[in-house]
Amino acid sequence: MSNLRTLGEFIIEKQYDFPHASGELSSLLSSINLAAKIVHREINKAGLVDITGAAGEENIQGEAQQKLDVLANDTFKAALQNRDQVCGIASEEEDEAVAFDGELNQRAKYVVLIDPLDGSSNIDVNVSVGTIFSIYRRLSPMGQPAENRDFLQPGTEQVASGYVIYGSSTMLVYSTGKGVHGFTYDPSIGSFCLSHEDMRFPKQGYIYSINEGNYIKFPKGVKKYIKYCQEEDEAGKRPYTSRYIGSLVSDFHRNLLLGGIFLYPSTRSYPSGKLRLLYECNPIAFLTEQAGGSATDGERRILEIKPEELHQRVPFFVGSTDMIDTLHGFLEQHPGEY
Ligand code: AHG
Ligand code: MN
Ligand code: MN
Repeated sequence: MSNLRTLGEFIIEKQYDFPHASGELSSLLSSINLAAKIVHREINKAGLVDITGAAGEENIQGEAQQKLDVLANDTFKAALQNRDQVCGIASEEEDEAVAFDGELNQRAKYVVLIDPLDGSSNIDVNVSVGTIFSIYRRLSPMGQPAENRDFLQPGTEQVASGYVIYGSSTMLVYSTGKGVHGFTYDPSIGSFCLSHEDMRFPKQGYIYSINEGNYIKFPKGVKKYIKYCQEEDEAGKRPYTSRYIGSLVSDFHRNLLLGGIFLYPSTRSYPSGKLRLLYECNPIAFLTEQAGGSATDGERRILEIKPEELHQRVPFFVGSTDMIDTLHGFLEQHPGEY
């Protein structure tokens, strides 16, 4: 109790790590704090009130939107717009980037990219879901509407990123480029409290996470790596444990805490894989590197990929550095083979 620190207090305290901080980023982060609490409240009612199931629309990627996808999107959008620190957002649930038209919003210097509800197909069966966010400084001049180029920056330019996991407890994990910190929500006081300061990826892990149902379609190097994970080797603590939830946030969170690798490769029919560069892979890759792990598309550092479009997909390999290095060894032996 003596050392209890809320997310709000921590954000203000850490603001002084940046000598010329104006408080705008702190205010932005506190709007995410607020929206996360609202989404937490709604998710915890799922099953009791009529908010599970499909909303009846498809998003631009042809995926059926769940009611909670829409609710989470509306909640984060409203919270971010209200604080006047954000000039626009890009979201999995919006076809195009949204430039906020308020005068104060147009003077704001940040854009936010967001996956409002990650793993949404898990909601109806009471399995953990998440929110993923990424923050950049705009490139277009202040005082005007946000432009597309503001959203199409490489991940190296992120000012901050993070996620919320609505799990057995709700947690918010974020980084502003000075380590990764995790906060657990205490519903009785309505605050996220610091529970995981300076999170670090174990260099080597013993968990691999992949949708193995697609095995037959994977690149040969990935198939070989999966077989390597399953081989018996006492000294190397293999076979590794297989764990796959189907919510990137949840799979990533577990691997960050315990050590492990998450893979979402390309297949012959989907050469870019499934996960979206801008609001799934980049924010997770930023946190990963901040925590001492690695994130690649099999060849390149995720953070260095120059984005071409908002909903662009990339193969995604993320986790403990030694495991990513071993995976790359297999990929290099079988370039382009399936
Ligand atoms: P979203 O619910 O935001 O569309 O994301 C779902 C993603 C991600 O969370 C997860 O890792 C992946 O889809 C699971 O895909 P498969 O069902 O193909 O394994
Ligand atoms: Mn997602
Ligand atoms: Mn989503």
